[in-house]
Amino acid sequence: MKAFSSLVSKADQATELVLLDPTDYEKWAKSASTKQKELIAKQSFEGKRGQKAWVQTEDTTYVLIGWDKKNDLAALGHLPFGLPEGQYRTNQKLSEIQLLGWGMGAYSFDRYKSPKRFPAQIEIRDDALREKVQAITESVFLARDLINTPASDMSPSHIESEIHAMAEKQDAVFSCWTGDELLDQNCGAIHAVGRASVDPPRLIELKWGHNNHPKICLVGKGVTFDSGGLDLKSAAGMRQMKKDMGGAAIAIALAHLIMKRNLPVQLRLLIPAAENSISGNAFRPGDILTTRKGLTVEIDNTDAEGRLLLCDALALADEEKPELIVDFATLTGAARSAVGTEISAMFTHSDLIAEKLYKQGESNADPLWRLPLHESYNKMLESKVADLVNSASSGYAGAITAALFLKNFLEDSSNWVHFDVMAYNLNTTPGKPEGGEGMAMRAVFAYLEETYGQT
Ligand code: BES
Ligand code: MN
Ligand code: ZN
Repeated sequence: MKAFSSLVSKADQATELVLLDPTDYEKWAKSASTKQKELIAKQSFEGKRGQKAWVQTEDTTYVLIGWDKKNDLAALGHLPFGLPEGQYRTNQKLSEIQLLGWGMGAYSFDRYKSPKRFPAQIEIRDDALREKVQAITESVFLARDLINTPASDMSPSHIESEIHAMAEKQDAVFSCWTGDELLDQNCGAIHAVGRASVDPPRLIELKWGHNNHPKICLVGKGVTFDSGGLDLKSAAGMRQMKKDMGGAAIAIALAHLIMKRNLPVQLRLLIPAAENSISGNAFRPGDILTTRKGLTVEIDNTDAEGRLLLCDALALADEEKPELIVDFATLTGAARSAVGTEISAMFTHSDLIAEKLYKQGESNADPLWRLPLHESYNKMLESKVADLVNSASSGYAGAITAALFLKNFLEDSSNWVHFDVMAYNLNTTPGKPEGGEGMAMRAVFAYLEETYGQT
């Protein structure tokens, strides 16, 4: 994780920032000297977002920053790399989400290439506020790093090491079933997806918290590379598939945040990790798998592998009867057709949870949209020879049929929320740089805080 932070408690040599929208700027210009006005005119500053102007007086230098005052990530998200390296401060009151935009905008993936520069730093004097923004920023960085790291350095065993290290740091209990142990534990679906890879599949578990707190279980799809299996993807379809462990990255980073913020919950993190690869022992179309729940699944398409990892993990999650189960997965292209790449598709039976999550998504610039668990589409998952097929017979409603598939593996699905996420920014916008992204994670954290946190 990054040692460098763009959020500092005390800036010794800070440049003052003055944040102005176009109206503020008009007022400000009235009291400015002619010389200053000339200088600013040269920098074509009008107070619009993205504009900056440097102002020199006899004894100080400060920077005018155009902004829209919006309470969102974008307001300051362009500044960490839009301003020269150094420390900055302001007397103006900045909100948590605006400061988070600064933190999130300071990310760069530099594991394989040294960074060109450091991000600019902002002073946050309020310790409680800074610690919270820092914890969220750090968790977002963790999710992004895990996703951006290529499959050769982020295989199932690497994911296991990440979680193991996290467990040791936080005094959590760690366990893992690897390779054939999965068969002993009746996780035939996870095993089938991952067995063709040189790095065996596994189901990784972390448990943390007091046993008198409510049980929350987080599950994440950890396909470290999705070639499609024998139903091989095209070159273009495979190109970004290092990100197919995005759901796992989000669940891991959310677990990190929950522990870091000491949320009064009993946390269980379950990560099924596998590489969907090809070899002589790869699972095939037509194979029938026996899952943890006891249901049999006929393989129609080896590229519908995510739901196979999740079905065993969700069955195991459900056995403990937790108060809430949340899963995250880069599950279907169909979810991307439905809501695009910036919005996470959400599925749940609970109107109350859906509404609260939706609101948190809006106020935290982490947009979610609910899709229905339309029961009648279950007919598309019928198999003539097994309890279910893994891929629906029709090309329609692919995100919904994937979610309905998962639902079969829960005894009680009233407390379950499923997110079908992109986990990737296709291009850079303020606060959200191109590459891996911890989508839905901040909205869920805010919901958990609202529901289970001490006030
Ligand atoms: N990991 C993919 C889904 C995916 C593809 C997410 C592209 C984001 C971008 C998943 O394993 C997959 O291949 N899904 C198939 C399912 C189909 C075979 C039923 C899909 O969506 O095409
Ligand atoms: Mn696939
Ligand atoms: Zn996949």
